[in-house]
Amino acid sequence: MADFQTVVVETDLLICGGGMAACGAAVEASYWAKKHGLKVTLVDKAAMDRSGAVAMGLSAINQYVDLNSGNNTVKDYCDYVRNDLMGITREDLVASIARHVDSTVHLFEKWGLPIWKDENGNYVHEGRWQLMINGESYKVIVAEAAKNALAEAGGQYFERVFITHPLMDGNKCVGAIGFSVRENKVYVFKAKATLAAMGGAVHVFKPRSTGEGFGRSWYPPFNSGASAFFTIYAGAEMTCQEVRFIPVRFKDAYGPVGAWFLLFKSIATNAYGEDYMKTNAAELEKWAPYGKVKPTPANIRNWLMMLDVMDGKSPIYMQTADAIKRIAESAPDEKAAQKKLKELEAEAWEDFLDMTISQAILWAAHNVEPEKKPSEIMACDPYFIGSHSGASGAWVSGPEDLQTPATKDEYFWGYTNMTTVDGLFAAGDASGASSHKFSSGSFTEGRIAGKSAIAYILDHNQAPNVDQGQVEALKAEILKPLDTFEKFKGATTDPEVNPHYIRPKQFMFRLQKLMDEYAGGVSAQFKTNDKLLERALELLAFLKEDSANLAAQNLHELMRAWECVHRMYQAEAHVRSVLFREETRWPGYYFRADKPQMDNENWLAFCNCKYDRNTGEWTMIKRPVKYITQ
Ligand code: FAD
Ligand code: ADX
Repeated sequence: MADFQTVVVETDLLICGGGMAACGAAVEASYWAKKHGLKVTLVDKAAMDRSGAVAMGLSAINQYVDLNSGNNTVKDYCDYVRNDLMGITREDLVASIARHVDSTVHLFEKWGLPIWKDENGNYVHEGRWQLMINGESYKVIVAEAAKNALAEAGGQYFERVFITHPLMDGNKCVGAIGFSVRENKVYVFKAKATLAAMGGAVHVFKPRSTGEGFGRSWYPPFNSGASAFFTIYAGAEMTCQEVRFIPVRFKDAYGPVGAWFLLFKSIATNAYGEDYMKTNAAELEKWAPYGKVKPTPANIRNWLMMLDVMDGKSPIYMQTADAIKRIAESAPDEKAAQKKLKELEAEAWEDFLDMTISQAILWAAHNVEPEKKPSEIMACDPYFIGSHSGASGAWVSGPEDLQTPATKDEYFWGYTNMTTVDGLFAAGDASGASSHKFSSGSFTEGRIAGKSAIAYILDHNQAPNVDQGQVEALKAEILKPLDTFEKFKGATTDPEVNPHYIRPKQFMFRLQKLMDEYAGGVSAQFKTNDKLLERALELLAFLKEDSANLAAQNLHELMRAWECVHRMYQAEAHVRSVLFREETRWPGYYFRADKPQMDNENWLAFCNCKYDRNTGEWTMIKRPVKYITQ
C-alpha cells in the first residue's frame, strides 16, 4: 500500500459538506462558537465556491415566505408542503425553517446576491414562494460568507477531502474519517458534535443520459449519497427513504421549468397540442384529497404527463412561444409589445445561463428560438433530494416550542435537527420529511442545526472518545481498493476486466441497471411491485458482497469507489422502504403496480428504517404523521 499519512484534526463542531446547509451552519455556528471559545471545522469533498447542487448557479430562490408582506403565514407554507408531499410531512420541521427563511434571503442580498426588483423596488416573484435572482455566482457569494465567518471565529475548512464514515463511540458520533482526493492523506476528525450536510444522491438509478452525456443529470453528480450512508452507518433512524424526486425538465440538458410554468404562465402539451393537465384531469379524483389541491402536487403533475407518454402521445412540449406571445400582447401598444418580447427572450435565456448553462448550449445547438417554437420537456430519472420535492433523509428532532401535546413525544428529543444518534445532526438534503426548503431553506436549516449543535456541545463538553482500533480498521478498509488494484492489476491485459476485482464504473452500472429494472427506473416507466423489489434485494445482497472487491487505480478512483458504496446503501434503504409502504402514494415518482391505490387509512404514516452496522440487519418502523397546524 502506498504510504498514507494520517492527519488528526481536533474540533468542537465538525461540519461535513460545503453546500448550502453546511455554509449556513458555518455562518451561524461560528457566531455562537466565538462567544464560547469553541472551534468549528468544515470539510468539503470539492471546492466550496462551486460545490454541490448550486455549483452552476441558480435562477431563483425557491423558498421565501415573505412574512412581512402579511400575505403569507408559516401555516400557509406548511399547508403547501403537506399537500405537495401527499400528506407526508413533519410540519414542525417545515415551520422551523419557514419562520426563519426570510432573514436568510435578506442576508444573501446583503452579501451581494442580486435579487430581481420591479420598478417599485419590490422583489420579483416567480411564483407565490419563489424569487427571481441573477444567481450565476450564488454559491461563490454564500461560500465567501461561510469562509469569512469561520476565519473570524478561528475555525478551519478543508477542501477536496472526501468523508467516508462517521466515527462512533457506541451510539454517539465522535467525528468522521475520510481521505484527501489530491494527496496520500487520511483525515481523522475528532469532534464533540458532527453535522451531516453532504447533499443527496444521483446515479443510484440509471440516468437517461448515455455515452458522452452520461455525467449530465438534473441533480449534480458530485452528490453521491454520502449523507445517507453517513447517517445510516451511524445507526440513525432514517425517514421517507421511498420518497424519491423525479423533476420534469427541458429534455436532455435538464433546464428548469419553474420560470416557464410560474413566471411566464406557460402550459405544456402533448405532441397533438392537448393540455394533459386538462385532458387527464379526471385522474385527480383518484388521488384526492391531494389530487384536488392547488397547486397540483409535483408528482401528480408528472403523473398526468406520464399518462400521455405511456399512451404514445410524446413528445411533450413546453409551449414557450405561446406564453411569450401572450405576455407581449398584453402590452399597451405595438412598440411596447416589441420591447416586452425582447425582454422576455432575454429572461428565457438568462434562466438557463444562471443555472443550467448546458441547456442554453443545447438550445443554441438546436437553433431553438423560444419565442418562435416550443421545446421538449420530459421526466428525468429518480433522485434523492430531501430539500426539494422529495423527502428522504435522517429523522431529526424538531424544535420544542413548535410541538403540540400530541407531537412532543414523537418529534422532539432535545436538540433541534439532532438525529437519533447522540451528537449527530443533519440538515439540507441530509434531513428528511421537511421538503421544499431548497437553497434558502437548506441554508436556514444549516443555521438552525449549527446553533443547536453548539448548544449540545455546551451541555456535553467532554473530549470525544475516539477508539484508535476503530480508526485503524476504517483506514485499512477505506484504502483497500487501492491495494486490491495493485495486487491484481497484472492478472489481465485489460485493466477493466479482472477476475479479482470490480472497477467503480462497472459497479455503478450494475447498481443502476438493478435499480432501473427492479425498483422502478426510467426503463420500467417508474413502475415496480413487491416481487420485483424482493428480487432487487437479492441482487443488492450480491452487489454488497462484491463491494469488498472494489479496486481503485488512484485517489480519484478511490473516491469513485466510496461513492459507489454510499449509493448502494441509499439504494437499499429505498428498496426496503418502497416495499414496506404497501400502497401507491406518489404516482409520478413511483407506482407500485401490486398496490395501485393510495391507502390513507393505513399509510398516512412515515415509513422509517434503521440499520445495524454490526449485524447488517435493517429494521422498518412505521411512525405517525401528526400535524401541528389544522
Ligand atoms: P448541496 O448544496 O448540494 O451541498 C452538498 C455538499 O456536500 C457539497 O459541498 C458537496 O461537495 C459535499 N459533499 C458531498 N459528498 C461529500 C463527501 N463524501 N465528503 C465531503 N463533502 C461532500 N433551490 C432554489 O432555491 N432555487 C433554485 O432555482 C434551485 N434550482 C436547483 C437546480 C438543481 C439542478 C438542483 C439539483 C437543485 C436546485 N435547487 C434550487 C435546490 C438547492 O440547490 C438544494 O436544495 C440545496 O443546494 C441543498 O443543500 P445541501 O447543503 O443539502 O446540498
Ligand atoms: S428548480 O429547483 O430547478 O428551480 P423548477 O424550476 O422546476 O425547479 O421549480 C422551481 C419552483 O417552482 C419549485 O418550487 C417548484 O415546486 C415550482 N413549480 C415548478 N413547476 C410548477 C407548476 N407547474 N406548478 C406549481 N409550482 C411549480
